[in-house]
Amino acid sequence: MCAFLRRGTVAASVLVALFTSAALATEADGAALAWKYHCVTCHGQNGIANSDRYPNLAGQNTAYLVSRLRYFRDGIEPGNQMNAQAAPLRDAEIERLADYYSKLF
Ligand code: HEC
Repeated sequence: MCAFLRRGTVAASVLVALFTSAALATEADGAALAWKYHCVTCHGQNGIANSDRYPNLAGQNTAYLVSRLRYFRDGIEPGNQMNAQAAPLRDAEIERLADYYSKLF
């Protein structure tokens, strides 16, 4: 009986952990992408740039950020420093990053 109870408790904990991490993953996605692709190196951990050579992104309009990232990813302006940064981004990641930065203040 004890083993049965323990198994039930473990199963319940696993379910709770799964639900919690799914919810956190959606919320943290933008931040996780900003770290994964090193955006934080130049644009700061909170979307405020570390140096005045880089633009602040916090609180910027989502649609504007999406259009800028697509512009860089598509290499429309050869030689732009952002082209290499945006090159690996998929559309869904661009939208998530833009949404994330637009909500930082
Ligand atoms: C090596 C430094 C560096 C890294 C890393 C970097 N950026 Fe940039 N970013 C820049 C510079 C420089 C500009 C200005 C380019 C321009 O406007 O011509 C810029 C511009 C931008 C802009 C346009 C802002 C505006 O006001 O028009 C966006 C959006 C942006 N970066 C997002 C990102 C994202 C998202 C990442 C990560 C995938 C990233 N950047 C990584 C240096 C960097």
